[in-house]
Amino acid sequence: METMRAINLSKTGSAKYDTTALVTDLTLNSSQPRPVPSSSDVLVRIHAVAITPYELTWPAPALADPRIPCHDIAGIVVSASPTSSFRAGDKVFGLKDFRTQGGMAEYALADPAHLAIIPEGLDFVQAASIPRAALTAWQALRVQRGGVLKVGMSLLVTGASGAVGRMGVQIGKKIVGEKGKVVAVGGVGTEDIGADVAFNYRKTANWVGGGEEGGVG
Ligand SMILES: NC(=O)c1ccc[n+]([C@@H]2O[C@H](COP(=O)([O-])OP(=O)(O)OC[C@H]3O[C@@H](n4cnc5c(N)ncnc54)[C@H](OP(=O)(O)O)[C@@H]3O)[C@@H](O)[C@H]2O)c1
Repeated sequence: METMRAINLSKTGSAKYDTTALVTDLTLNSSQPRPVPSSSDVLVRIHAVAITPYELTWPAPALADPRIPCHDIAGIVVSASPTSSFRAGDKVFGLKDFRTQGGMAEYALADPAHLAIIPEGLDFVQAASIPRAALTAWQALRVQRGGVLKVGMSLLVTGASGAVGRMGVQIGKKIVGEKGKVVAVGGVGTEDIGADVAFNYRKTANWVGGGEEGGVG
């Protein structure tokens, strides 16, 4: 059996939003069995992962114990089914199914439907930071309530300097187009993410009524 190094989160389900789990339950396992791909899996050599703090304290789902955290992954394809669109050597990123082991390890398996080629100009760390936040923004704008956002509409994104908000501004602008308007309210950097009008709530307390200081854009 081939092995690999992986971070293990043990005592799954022991902690409900117990922040001590962040420190006490994570261990380095140097002899984790290396995952063996099925005919449909993609085997990825992991180069970067992203973590959401809460995932360390989620109640145990139907997962192996100990489990490997971090389902946002970026890396290089080691092997893939010939029927998938991926080939060994491809640089990929994606969000693994939460019912499978995460990616904080040397290798991880992924469903090809959950992966994409990393666009030019993004490194592995940048790529790994995108999937879950982008999916959340996409679901809010295009899936929830039947995807009500359409070309030409106006969109207000609060928390726009955060992980989800940054994606919401950029995806929102793609959807509403030049005829629509995206107004972003957030902290540092809100002015730089492509909104038509941006308010830094730390500088502009009264942004709701237009604010005496006004927005940037
Ligand atoms: N990240 C994910 O993948 C994900 C997935 C599912 C659900 N969610 C949920 O989506 C929400 C946002 O998550 P996130 O990851 O984007 O969080 P985040 O990166 O921490 O961003 C939070 C945003 O809220 C702003 N903010 C904080 N305090 C504020 C205040 N008092 N007034 C106005 N704005 C304030 C922050 O501004 P500053 O820049 O000034 O701090 C920042 O823009 C959370 O409820 C989270 O649980 C996130």
